[in-house]
Amino acid sequence: ILIYCLLIVMGYLYGSIPFALVIGKLFYHTDVRNSGSGNLGGTNAGRVLGKKAGLSVIILDASKCCISILIAGTVAKYMKLDMNIIYPCALACVIGHCYPLFAGFRGGKAVSVAIGYALMTNIYAFVVALIIFMVTLKISKYVSLASILAAISIAVISPFIGYSMIGIITNICIVALLVYKHRSNIQRLRNGTENKITWM
Ligand code: G3P
Repeated sequence: ILIYCLLIVMGYLYGSIPFALVIGKLFYHTDVRNSGSGNLGGTNAGRVLGKKAGLSVIILDASKCCISILIAGTVAKYMKLDMNIIYPCALACVIGHCYPLFAGFRGGKAVSVAIGYALMTNIYAFVVALIIFMVTLKISKYVSLASILAAISIAVISPFIGYSMIGIITNICIVALLVYKHRSNIQRLRNGTENKITWM
């Protein structure tokens, strides 16, 4: 049980690294929390610091879940533990990203970490979510709407693409958190005041 707890804490701590803040401060001397949407995520980093920074943050944030799952999976394999341990670890990582210990518990909106999560847990989830994201983004130009619809699609299809029961429950938790973190975006979408991306 100790090893399970350690892996979950590790997931949370790794998820807590605020890459948007680190990259902004280190390379641009800018705190992205003070500009754009104020969100510590790839979209806002791209908006405030430029495409290169945005993409770097997306990749680093996505790596959080990839690495947490990889470590948890490897430890589980060698110690002959239940492989389902990857799910609470991944959820802890997403919670860390949204409520980071290292940034006053004000973090991102779970999008990039969820990309890493889908990629590592189920290729069908990743591909379907990616297609829905790209199509919605192309049509609407809203990253938030594309992220929400892509995430919901994972929750909807997850019982049919091979996720275990713990996996399905984890998907629902991650999607619920992602939608909750987008509540200000949802409000802006309803008011017609949400930011559109300009480069697509
Ligand atoms: O990266 C999260 C995205 O869906 C919305 O971000 O900064 O426009 O609130 P933002």
